[in-house]
Amino acid sequence: MATHKKNETLVIGNWKMNPGSLATAKTLMKEVSARALRARAPKTEVGIAVPTLYLSELAKITKGKQVLLGAQNAAAGGVGAQTGEVSVGMLKEFHTAFAIIGHSERRARGETDAQVAERVHGVLAANIIPVVCIGETARDGDGHFYTTVSEQINAIFEGVSARKATQMVVAYEPVWAIGTGVTPTVYDISEMRLFIQKTLEKRYDAGTARKIRVLYGGSVTDENAGEMMREGMIDGFLVGGASLDATRFAAIVRAAARD
Ligand code: PGA
Repeated sequence: MATHKKNETLVIGNWKMNPGSLATAKTLMKEVSARALRARAPKTEVGIAVPTLYLSELAKITKGKQVLLGAQNAAAGGVGAQTGEVSVGMLKEFHTAFAIIGHSERRARGETDAQVAERVHGVLAANIIPVVCIGETARDGDGHFYTTVSEQINAIFEGVSARKATQMVVAYEPVWAIGTGVTPTVYDISEMRLFIQKTLEKRYDAGTARKIRVLYGGSVTDENAGEMMREGMIDGFLVGGASLDATRFAAIVRAAARD
């Protein structure tokens, strides 16, 4: 995972604070990885972001399989006085390939763009792939939500070299679509995808911007994933609710094949 894999699509399941016990998590991981790997096209990567406490046990299940294990957050620094935080070094020791950073459920608890950026730097320095979430809380008729998104992008990529930037993954997750069953149209998704590309081009260059994968997240299901993939110009998905169901998740992984 150290280099960019722009030509590969990526589907990440975000288990959030689920399931409620390690035993259930192990069963789920066995099912999810077996089915997703069977469903996956050769150029689709699969990742699962699990509760931190389960990482070490679940790593035993994913070992040797092409399923990337991920965390749902990571602290910027090394060891120190940060009650409740988990450092990148700790995550690395337990086989964490990627970390979701700046999820809206964390931003809603007060995490700022500056704090998200700090975490991203720490994760990159540890050679863990940051999957950074951006997205507006609501859409307005005047297009101000584009400003929100460009501000988030600029904060996150500030001080990140072009080489490092190509290792990052951006997850566009409009907050109003998360867990609601409501999604943007595929046209809206492709417009936003282009906007993200342009914003990254301004900061770096076209070649670099093209190598930064952009996922869509927010009420992705086995029913809407195919059309989003065909028409939305995205590189894959960040999936919440549907990632807890092995059959549905596998269908989303299948849908992420690029023709
Ligand atoms: P959802 O969550 O798929 O349940 O809407 C997406 C996310 O929060 O990453």
